[in-house]
Amino acid sequence: VANEKESMYLVSEFASKYFQDILWNNEEGKAIGLSYFKERGFTSDTIKKFNLGYSPESWDAFTKEALGKGYKLDYLEKTGLSIVKEDKQFDRFKGRVMFPIQSMSGRVLGFGGRILTNDKKAAKYLNSPESDIYHKSKVLYGIYHAKQAIAKHNNCYLVEGYTDVIQFNQAGIENVVSSSGTALTPDQIRLINRLTPNITVLFDGDAAGLRASVRGIDLILEAGMNVKVCTFPDGDDPDSFAKKTSYDDLVRYLEENAKDFIQFKASLLMLDAKNDPIKKADLIRDMVVSISKIPDRIKREIYIQECARIMDISEDVLFNTLAQLVKKDI
Ligand code: CTP
Ligand code: MN
Ligand code: MN
Ligand code: MN
Ligand code: MN
Repeated sequence: VANEKESMYLVSEFASKYFQDILWNNEEGKAIGLSYFKERGFTSDTIKKFNLGYSPESWDAFTKEALGKGYKLDYLEKTGLSIVKEDKQFDRFKGRVMFPIQSMSGRVLGFGGRILTNDKKAAKYLNSPESDIYHKSKVLYGIYHAKQAIAKHNNCYLVEGYTDVIQFNQAGIENVVSSSGTALTPDQIRLINRLTPNITVLFDGDAAGLRASVRGIDLILEAGMNVKVCTFPDGDDPDSFAKKTSYDDLVRYLEENAKDFIQFKASLLMLDAKNDPIKKADLIRDMVVSISKIPDRIKREIYIQECARIMDISEDVLFNTLAQLVKKDI
């Protein structure tokens, strides 16, 4: 099994090299793939740093090349790079720009492939299937380039997408990783916790992004980590926002808008229903549920005090609610 995994790593590494070679040296790759990345504002250095590539618009160009080089069809199929149907072999990622997903130590585990249009009907990203080397719920896109910066700044920015990670790196902010569209998982949080206890969630400025931020908060708190949230204007994501903002303004925006989770949840209420007492009560209960996830009792007390102050409610009633929620832990 160890040999089998090694063979899967090797064929994935070969694929990454192949897709990069096509992007930089092949006429179709340059005209379609490289132009796409340039139009998105990525520099050559950035494209090389993230080993971005292009999979040609062909049924089996990649698979044929890999088989010709001696890679076994079995591993091409197990990594999902090739699809085998009725004794015929097809490239999974044909006609897509390619984002290799690397482990903490830089090995290629899988790929995300994006279509070149913004056609709402087609799935925008196609990802490698689960395999012995690629577990979607355990990887964080960008971790290889982020690990040192996360430790140095003692903070990790968490974004939704591949291009958010890349655009932040290009802007000069390297302590950033992406959950790649999956709901954040405990395994992904543990990976970050090896490097820092502090996470700043930067999800897209749309309803889906807000929902994902809210879900992520409790998981991060449960891990005993500290979480802040910084939102973007509706319609922006970290990529589009960073692209049109100077480094200084971006850093200032992140500093000024990163709120702790109590302030973040309070700001949701302001958007939603300022003067609706029922909604306010629901939100306060929801805040106390989040606070109850925090393993450290002193931190819990501090957040209860903050919640009481911000929501203008007595600490006593909050402590009573909290006591009911954490009763099982005492
Ligand atoms: N995603 C996915 N499959 C999809 C859509 C999204 O796997 N069909 C994942 C990708 O990892 C993507 C992330 O979810 O990067 C965030 O989705 P979204 O915000 O829709 O995409 P962006 O990253 O903003 O992509 P782009 O800017 O290229 O449109
Ligand atoms: Mn961009
Ligand atoms: Mn989105
Ligand atoms: Mn996005
Ligand atoms: Mn985007």
